Amino acid sequence: MRYCSLFICIIFALGTMNAQFVANYDESKVPEFDLPDPLTTFAKKEVQTSASWNKLRRPELISFFETDVYGKVPGKIDANSFKVLEERNSALGDRAKRKQVKVTLTKNGKTLSFTMLLYLPKQIALNGLFLGYNFHGNHTVTDDPEIIISKAWSLNNESIGITNNTLTEANRGKRSSRWAIAKMIEAGYGLATIYYGEIDPDKNDFTDGIHPLFYAEDQKRPAKDEWGSIGAWAWALSRAMDYLEEDTETTQKPVVVFGHSRLGKAALWAGATDTRFSGVISNDSGCGGAALSKRRFGETVARINESFPYWFSGNFKKFNNAEEHLPVDQHELLALIAPRPLYVASAREDEWADPRGEFLSSYYASPVYELFGKKGISSNQMPNVNSPIFNTVSYHVRTGKHDVTAYDWEQYIKWALMHFN
Ligand code: GCU
Repeated sequence: MRYCSLFICIIFALGTMNAQFVANYDESKVPEFDLPDPLTTFAKKEVQTSASWNKLRRPELISFFETDVYGKVPGKIDANSFKVLEERNSALGDRAKRKQVKVTLTKNGKTLSFTMLLYLPKQIALNGLFLGYNFHGNHTVTDDPEIIISKAWSLNNESIGITNNTLTEANRGKRSSRWAIAKMIEAGYGLATIYYGEIDPDKNDFTDGIHPLFYAEDQKRPAKDEWGSIGAWAWALSRAMDYLEEDTETTQKPVVVFGHSRLGKAALWAGATDTRFSGVISNDSGCGGAALSKRRFGETVARINESFPYWFSGNFKKFNNAEEHLPVDQHELLALIAPRPLYVASAREDEWADPRGEFLSSYYASPVYELFGKKGISSNQMPNVNSPIFNTVSYHVRTGKHDVTAYDWEQYIKWALMHFN
């Protein structure tokens, strides 16, 4: 009898755990909250100059995001190597050159490789590059038949023909709407893209991907203050940057790191930690990305940690349903990118990612940009849809859903041409 009621209790508890989360989409139900001031240190010292931002505030914020949000990278790799797997001087109707480069990382005698696909303008000079992960393999970004199909595990996605967690010919070009490659090339911009699953498969498993390369003997998963998958994806963008710095065609060129959604979270963290990135674009990155966590609008800290327990550090779970105890918020992640250009974009129907929270985060990051004499977002009134604000901190909310569209890329290219040429 006792066992029976215990069993019923457990079933009931499990049932309520699943049923209890209801996302708030009502602005009037956003809780009152105190947003930490990016220009006041944890010890309550005011930051008045860019020099003291760099010396005092930036390092302590980086350190908090490292240990309590995305997790620390547990060390440095022992070696890296680059191999051009394939190169063609004429691609995309002779407007571009193509390269596919294998980057191999070695640590503790173990290796991990990923392949970066590059398109560079052929007929005009290279102004800069967009570097960003794709969700389903390099071969999905355009229908170019020469793009190598990754053998790495993939999330299934029937709409683009991915079943059995395997990428195939059937998916080629199926995500081209998310990559305005012709427009980039026309503007003198190259594209460097990597399939994120080659760095760490997007599943709750720490035995695969990059993490095991750093394990001590018998270690099975990262420590609580160490990196989850987003930390790993962000870090490997820097390893891609190591290559772009060495390639004689791309060295010294501005590299803008771009990402959509979970990969936008990774792009922001990469941009915050690695100042070699000249600019950062966050497309619909939402919770744990550009959106303010303390608003608890749409996806929340508890919800993201429950659905994706492997994305953030173990420590981040301390803030499940306790956002008020977070001594930081995501506007401070954005501020870590200052004074480099930052573009935050939202989509009106993407309420899960809290467009208003993404906008306010950009606004509240702006005092740090102003400390550097750069223009951020100066009003807390959200702009109308499809009316971008172009400053060093740029922002738009477009019509439509959670996605990357031609409209988004038109603005990013325009913004890049304003800031990096
Ligand atoms: C889920 C997740 C989001 C994430 C998104 C995506 O919706 O809850 O946090 O941004 O997937 O990556 O598409």
